Amino acid sequence: MSERRLIIAIDGPAGAGKSTVARHLAAHFGLLNLETGAMYRAFALKALRCRIDPDDSEGLHQLAASTDIALEPTRAGNRVLLDGAEVTDLIRDAEVTQAASRVSVHPAIRSWMVDLQREMGKAGGVVMEGRDIGTVVFPDADIKFFLDASPEARSQRRYEQAAGPISITASSDGSQENGKAQDEVTRELHERDERDRNRAQSPLRPAPDAIVIDSTSLTLEQVLDRIESVVNEKLARAGSY
Ligand code: DC
Repeated sequence: MSERRLIIAIDGPAGAGKSTVARHLAAHFGLLNLETGAMYRAFALKALRCRIDPDDSEGLHQLAASTDIALEPTRAGNRVLLDGAEVTDLIRDAEVTQAASRVSVHPAIRSWMVDLQREMGKAGGVVMEGRDIGTVVFPDADIKFFLDASPEARSQRRYEQAAGPISITASSDGSQENGKAQDEVTRELHERDERDRNRAQSPLRPAPDAIVIDSTSLTLEQVLDRIESVVNEKLARAGSY
């Protein structure tokens, strides 16, 4: 174990509960929580504003050269700054969500983001959450988790997130009234899953040494118990960071 402070990687697909878990974990262990998906989202928002097609690799590359993205971790989550202006809420928009998945397939955009993320996390003392943290950004992270859940559970959570308070536990019934909107959520999540898992560069997959947790039928408390006990064990074995 090195002298530097702890780096925890949490990867997984959309709706697996990564952000909620990362936020709790960071608060519990006094770490900074860095949400890398928010960076792709902020860049996607800029591309949409500048009318650059999210599939236009060259246009996006040029745009990146004049774009500044920063995360400010707080206890409530990350404040996201795009060219110095706060966009924390704007980047949750459905159009931005789909565009973020599309801009993130381009190798030049990924390597720009990975450099930024390494810079932000290099001092350690962080929980970094995303799709490629344990595989690409910090392959030597001290602890890697891959948080997964069934597509049905993830789409239910996303749907509930959009409608109200965040829950990590899928509820079993969706009302008829909500059916159509939920179908849309399910379709979009599936599209993103396909793109995130099948892109050529750093597709979503667990690192070989990641601890995979399927949260489909677990409560937030159960997921946190499991993760916290792994972290505590690691800390006990390593001495303090
Ligand atoms: O975690 P999120 O839903 O906010 O991420 C938005 C998009 O960003 C997601 O569809 C894929 C991309 N992403 C990525 O490619 N690599 C990361 N480390 C984080 C997010």
